[in-house]
Amino acid sequence: MQPVHAPFPATRLRRTRANAGIRALVRENDLQLGDLIWPVFVREGEGVEEPIPSMPGVMRRSVDTLVAAVREAADLGIGTVCVFPYTGPEDRTEDCARAWDPQNATNRAIAAIKEAIPQMVVMTDVALDTYNINGHDGFVENGIIVNDRTVEALVKMALAQAEAGADIIGPSDMMDGRIGAIRDALEQAGHHDVMILSYAAKYASAFYGPFRDAVGASSALTGDKKTYQMDPANSDEALRLVARDLSEGADMVMVKPGMPYLDICRRVKDAFGAPTFAYQVSGEYSMIRGAADQGWIDGERAMMESILAFKRAGCDGVLTYFAPDVARLLAKSA
Ligand code: PBG
Repeated sequence: MQPVHAPFPATRLRRTRANAGIRALVRENDLQLGDLIWPVFVREGEGVEEPIPSMPGVMRRSVDTLVAAVREAADLGIGTVCVFPYTGPEDRTEDCARAWDPQNATNRAIAAIKEAIPQMVVMTDVALDTYNINGHDGFVENGIIVNDRTVEALVKMALAQAEAGADIIGPSDMMDGRIGAIRDALEQAGHHDVMILSYAAKYASAFYGPFRDAVGASSALTGDKKTYQMDPANSDEALRLVARDLSEGADMVMVKPGMPYLDICRRVKDAFGAPTFAYQVSGEYSMIRGAADQGWIDGERAMMESILAFKRAGCDGVLTYFAPDVARLLAKSA
């Protein structure tokens, strides 16, 4: 008689966890320097390095100190940065004209980074919130965020960034039709190689709070962004948004925030196989950083575990304020 099953226990899964060598051998995912995009904040002035109270360890910098910080990041092996402006009330107008001013802090920073560190890939953010009098990503008419007039402004903003030397345009506004409109305008202007990383599945999230402080938008914002950012209850809708943005010419797509939406990352990667990114947003950063600063969690381990989760969920890369810390840690353990 043949036994009908192997003797207990049939499978000992602990065998391949017994020591560091075997764990390394069976490891399915890993985090590499090339997976990181570092979001940075630029503001007017000179010699400025200004801490952001709600994001411990994160600075607003003027163009000169930003270039120095990005050079340090490049030396650590970081290959991509994403530039966000801090703006004051003087930059905010009804017509948002500063958004496409070639001399605004973002565009000067893009040009300065590309000149100083040409191999650095520079990504941007396209949305009107930092230049809008009311903090919204689009124009507001009679209390409604209007779509098509906003898209015309976003196109001007994206073109100014491409002119400044940006490699990747990142529309984060969630208006309909903006990817196609920006792609058309880039082609017509001869920017055939400028890429678009669409914030395709961007949720109306509480986790953006510290960022809105960082860019100076908190006090300006009236109401919420629920008529253009996604309902956190939805998942199928994320797939429709990604399909739409890819069909309009997006080269890469993003899910945002990250940790609360790992299921969306996995669905998007499985459904489309396109380059997929997660944004570990300000609130996620500050939760980990804040708890670590209190001594409640091991900050380094929590940081690495949280970012590895994005790789496991299918992401090709991650936007994270931890990027320099991760790079330093990877260098130490190499
Ligand atoms: C602007 C924008 C936001 C973030 C990135 N681009 C804020 C928002 O939509 O209100 C958030 C990033 C973060 O929280 O780290 N449209």
